[in-house]
Amino acid sequence: MTALTWAKSVPGRLGGWVNERFPVREMWQSELAGYAAPKNFNIWYFFGSLMLMVLVIQLATGLFLAIHYQPNPHLAYWSVVRGIMRDNSWGWLIRYIHIVGASSFFVLVYLHMYRAMLYGSYKKPRELLWLVGVVIYLMLAAEAFLGYLLPWGQMSYWGSSVVVNFLTAIPEIGKPLATWIRGDFVTGLPTLNRFFTFHVFLMPMLLLALVLVHIIALHEVGSNNPDGIEIRENLNEDGWPREGIPFHPYYTVKDVFGVSVFLLVFCWFVFFEPAGWGLLVDKLNFTPANVLHTPSDIHPLWFFLPFYAMLRGVPNKTYGVATFFFVFVLLAILPWMDRNPIKSIRYRSSWYKLNMFVIAASFIMLGIIARGRATQPNMVYGLHMTEVFYTAFLILPYFNKQRPRWVTFLWFAFFESCVWLVDIWMYSIHAHSWTLMLQTDWLPAGYTAVVFLPALLWPRLVKDAPTLPKRLTAGGLMH
Ligand code: HEM
Repeated sequence: MTALTWAKSVPGRLGGWVNERFPVREMWQSELAGYAAPKNFNIWYFFGSLMLMVLVIQLATGLFLAIHYQPNPHLAYWSVVRGIMRDNSWGWLIRYIHIVGASSFFVLVYLHMYRAMLYGSYKKPRELLWLVGVVIYLMLAAEAFLGYLLPWGQMSYWGSSVVVNFLTAIPEIGKPLATWIRGDFVTGLPTLNRFFTFHVFLMPMLLLALVLVHIIALHEVGSNNPDGIEIRENLNEDGWPREGIPFHPYYTVKDVFGVSVFLLVFCWFVFFEPAGWGLLVDKLNFTPANVLHTPSDIHPLWFFLPFYAMLRGVPNKTYGVATFFFVFVLLAILPWMDRNPIKSIRYRSSWYKLNMFVIAASFIMLGIIARGRATQPNMVYGLHMTEVFYTAFLILPYFNKQRPRWVTFLWFAFFESCVWLVDIWMYSIHAHSWTLMLQTDWLPAGYTAVVFLPALLWPRLVKDAPTLPKRLTAGGLMH
């Protein structure tokens, strides 16, 4: 054997040696090269792999930040603004990547979840996959909240204080719980120490474990697709789905394209607009925390704004916190609310499509409203937009099948009464001006009418496609 042939055989033999002790080749074969993915994935299917990449970016940059960061109220702000940003080599770059990474994580997670909603990817057999996703979303929110305190700027300090204070709204146990979480009666050294530990140690480990479970669950049941047709129900003689292609190389190559476009945008933010016009880093966070000076307007970062609008809009702290928390419950029970056998939005009725649009639009509107100051009109619009968001979610079971006219009428009467009852009850709390509340009531009441009245007059608006295509349709790689 020449030296060259011997050298060439080294990787193969090394691989064989490892494989005898750990099944790398089998895993590569079963999870990538031998994983049958539907051939019609579209742009919505980029976000999962992009999130995997952002997770790695966050872990790597977070590690270097943690090396130089000081979890002490006297040192934290300066260890970030002077130490990391100016004195440590490339510290500014690592911090900016971590900041842009955090926000891009949420852009991706919202798109990823909405994709699952559009194509009914939460339905049988993917309910558990979806539930694990909802827990990941909760953990991601907790991770971002914990990390936000670390720079110990004005907004970090007051934002965290406000959020922990929300816990006091829980009857009986609220106050001791908030003190227990802070480790003190106000946000201070024990709070910073534990938030630091949870942010760099506990939550990343939990997130990694959950993402692993998420991917295992996905590969167990197989990917859904924009047509919502199960490719595993149509196998060829070799047991391979007729409409499937190997994930590797077809989708690894496709994902490289997605990663390239994503990184272009990502780098633009890192190098040209790392604070994202005050959206990614609040302007107030360029001032060290001052425990004696409460800012006039306290905001969370952009990805929590819709929830903040709910908290601000509902004129009672306990109900506000419940309203905010119930969004996660709604997401968790989605597979059991939308039980229509058709998965993809492509084959659902026009009015279902409208409703899905309103879910997204009202969530975005809530964010825009919360970005404004805490004025009466902003709070009242926040309340009514919350009602629209909730209505759009809660009427999903109506679309489970074609309903006779009288049933549609009952749904209309029930939802319209609920909207008015909730509002009359809110007026009775007297937190907002009556005139303003009445003037803006048209939002939820109007939306309920917009869904059900046309459905009563023109039932075809709520009629799904009578048949589904037998094969996957446009947009795939190989046709
Ligand atoms: C760190 C966060 C997450 C990572 C890294 C991640 C990763 C992935 C990956 C790689 C896929 C397969 C590729 C794709 O369909 O895009 C996937 C699919 C899926 N994910 Fe996630 N995910 C995360 C969070 C979530 C969340 C928060 C939810 C929902 C609440 C969710 C629900 C789903 C569903 C339902 C699918 C199957 C989609 C289909 O086959 O149509 N994921 N995820």
